[in-house]
Order: sequence, then C-alpha cells, then structure tokens
Amino acid sequence: MNLPTVIVTGGAGFIGSAVCRYLVSNQIANVINVDVLTYAANLTSVEPVAHADNYTFVKADICDAEAMQQVFEKYQPDGVMHLAAESHVDRSITGAQKFIETNVLGTSVLLDAALKHWRGLDKEKADTFKFLLVSTDEVYGSLGADGLFEEVTPYDPSSPYSASKAASDHLAIAWHRTYGLPVVISNCSNNYGPYHFPEKLIPLIILNALHHKPLPIYGDGSNVRDWLFVDDHAKALWTILKTGELGEKYNVGGRNERTNLEVVQTVCRLLDDMVDSTPEGGHESLITYVTDRPGHDARYAIDATKLENELGWKAEENFDTGIKATVQWYLENESWWRPILEQKYAGERLGL
Ligand code: NAD
Ligand code: DAU
Repeated sequence: MNLPTVIVTGGAGFIGSAVCRYLVSNQIANVINVDVLTYAANLTSVEPVAHADNYTFVKADICDAEAMQQVFEKYQPDGVMHLAAESHVDRSITGAQKFIETNVLGTSVLLDAALKHWRGLDKEKADTFKFLLVSTDEVYGSLGADGLFEEVTPYDPSSPYSASKAASDHLAIAWHRTYGLPVVISNCSNNYGPYHFPEKLIPLIILNALHHKPLPIYGDGSNVRDWLFVDDHAKALWTILKTGELGEKYNVGGRNERTNLEVVQTVCRLLDDMVDSTPEGGHESLITYVTDRPGHDARYAIDATKLENELGWKAEENFDTGIKATVQWYLENESWWRPILEQKYAGERLGL
C-alpha cells in the first residue's frame, strides 16, 4: 500500500492503540507498533486491526538502542509518534526509577535512533520526516481556580511522572535545536474512553461500581481534570504530525472540565440507568473519600486555541456523550477487562 510509514511507540497501550486503530482502519498510514508490552499493554486492544496489511507489531524496548536502530533501518519510517511511557502518576509515587528509565532515557535513545535515520535520508524524505513526542498537560503543574494552560505556560511538574515527561519534552526540543531533528510536541489533558487500563479514575470507578465495591475519591473530590475522548486525541496527534510546525508545541483538549466528584457521580447515575443490579441508595452510595494523593495537582485545564486555529483540529465528542459511550463499552467488553482484573491489577490503592 502506498501509505506513509509511521512508527507508533506504545501502540499496545490505551492511547497508542487508539492511534493504531485510527491510522490502520482508515488506511491513513502503514503503522509499525513498537511496544515492549509492560503491565499496561494489551494486544487485544489492537486486535481489530492486527491482521491488516498496513499494520506490523514489533516487541521491543525503547531503552534498547540497538533494537531501536534496527527498527528504523528495517522499516524506514516517514515519521514517529512516540507514546511509549510509564503513564500512571500513582505508580510514579510508589517507584520513580522506572519512569526516569522509560520516559527520560528511553526517549533519548529513541531520539538518537530517529536522528541517525533522519540524517541518512535523501533530501525529499528528510524534509518531510517528523518526530512527534506525545506529552501531557501535567508538565505545567497545577492551576488555581482560574486560567488555562497555554503553550507558553512555564513548566512546573509536581509528580515523578510529570517531571519525567517534562524532561522528555526538554530533550525533544534540545534534539531539534541542537541537531535539527524535525520535532513537534503535543501536551494533552486527561483522556478517557474504551480500552483504558483500570488503574485510572474512570475505568476504576466503572468496574468497582459494577462490582458494588467502594469508589475511592482522593481528598474531597474537588480536584479538576479536563477530559478528552481518546479518539479525538488520536485524530489530533495525526493532525499535529502532518501539519504541526517544527519545534512547536500544541496543547490538546476539549474544554470539558469536571471535578473528580462530578465525574464519579456521572458514572454512578449512568450505571443506575444502564444496569439491572443497582445497590440500595444507588451507585453513589458506594462513594468513599480516601487519603489524598501526595502532591495532588488541584486543577488542569487546556487552552487548545493554537491547535484549533492553526491546524484546524477540534474535539468532536463532549463529555456527556463520551462518558456514556465509555460506560456502555465497559458493559459490553467484559472479555477485555476481566483478565486484567484477574491477572494484572484488581483495583488496589497505589501511590501512598
Ligand atoms: P499506557 O500506560 O496505557 O500505555 C503505555 C504503553 O507504552 C504500553 O503499551 C507499554 O507497554 C508501552 N511501553 C512502556 N514502556 C515501554 C518501553 N520501554 N518500550 C516500549 N514500549 C513501552 O499509556 P497511555 O495512557 O496510553 O499514554 C500514552 C502516552 O500519552 C504517554 O506518553 C503519556 O504520557 C501520554 N499522555 C497520556 C494521557 C492520558 O490521559 N492517558 C494524557 C496526555 C498524555
Ligand atoms: O492530565 C493528563 C494525565 O492524565 C496523563 O498525563 C496521565 O498519563 C494520566 O494518567 C492522567 O493523570 P491523572 O493523575 O490526572 O489521572 P488519574 O486517572 O490517575 O486521576 C484522575 C484524577 O482522579 C486525579 O485528580 C486523581 C483522582 N483519583 C484517581 C484515582 C485512580 C481519585 O480520586 N481516585 C482514584 O482512585
């Protein structure tokens, strides 16, 4: 197929798998999914596209310089979408080193492999090659009651996770300024949707509620996150890879701020309507306030004007429709989440 070849790292994770499904099923790119398959990975998340001609899976570690060089030599990519990372704040509080290894060192290894590949390209290919680093709004730290994160907001990360992501952003910009590598960066808000690993708030709450287990809310539930449906993020990432200006950053978000308590209550009300077995007092009666997350950022909110005005992307899903579709997906896909609960993660508290 005469499509651009794109390496997607972390393509067996939550967002990476959405990127793979989007690019492969719409015949947008020839995808090389490079993933080492940590606890957070799940090849069933890419099963819908796994047999397509424009999809290849390579099990490899981004920290392994030789393996990365081989991947670039073998597949000769036209671009890279770098999503592979340790992604869970609570796990970074329990143990930071893996986050530094993967998110900082791994990113530098990948940047070096991309640089070597880019330097060997003929002019036409070198001029269109691009490396997209997929990052997070958490690099900006915490907002007060007002204001939004803009691309020029100073970096002020709070957790080992967000500090490691901030470091990888700085590395990518350094490889651009120093070596000329064609780099763009995206900083996105909280994603939600199908295939989300149940250590994260929304899938944890859905699955705990389904099992009539306590619904843990850190602190008083007033912390605010800005929620984006994962398929909107996948489309934004492709837009940024294709049309983003080199050396620039783009914030990604859908203007869907909610307190954690509002999110949990919304899931509870949906489940009250959607399942037969509702606990007495409704699913909200399961809400339990627990010890706060150390260093818990109060509020995230994204100003995505640059991405919307300059590159023409806009979120299509709003939180009310997206969260309903997400709850429905978990109700219909027990075969996806049951093995995770039984073999990998049963919902225990992390990060204290
Ligand atoms: P995830 O934890 O669901 O998936 C991460 C994937 O990376 C897994 O498949 C894992 O196996 C793979 N991986 C980890 N270490 C690797 C290594 N050394 N080599 C190769 N593969 C490795 O993460 P996610 O939520 O899909 O996030 C993807 C990216 O998007 C991350 O970089 C994250 O920082 C960023 N991000 C996430 C969100 C969010 O809300 N989830 C928001 C903004 C940005
Ligand atoms: O903002 C983007 C970030 O969003 C990404 O960079 C991260 O990879 C992603 O994990 C996510 O980080 P958060 O820490 O915001 O997501 P999490 O789902 O862990 O928590 C969302 C909010 O819910 C946060 O304020 C903590 C709270 N929370 C979380 C859990 C797991 C609870 O109240 N109870 C819980 O059990």
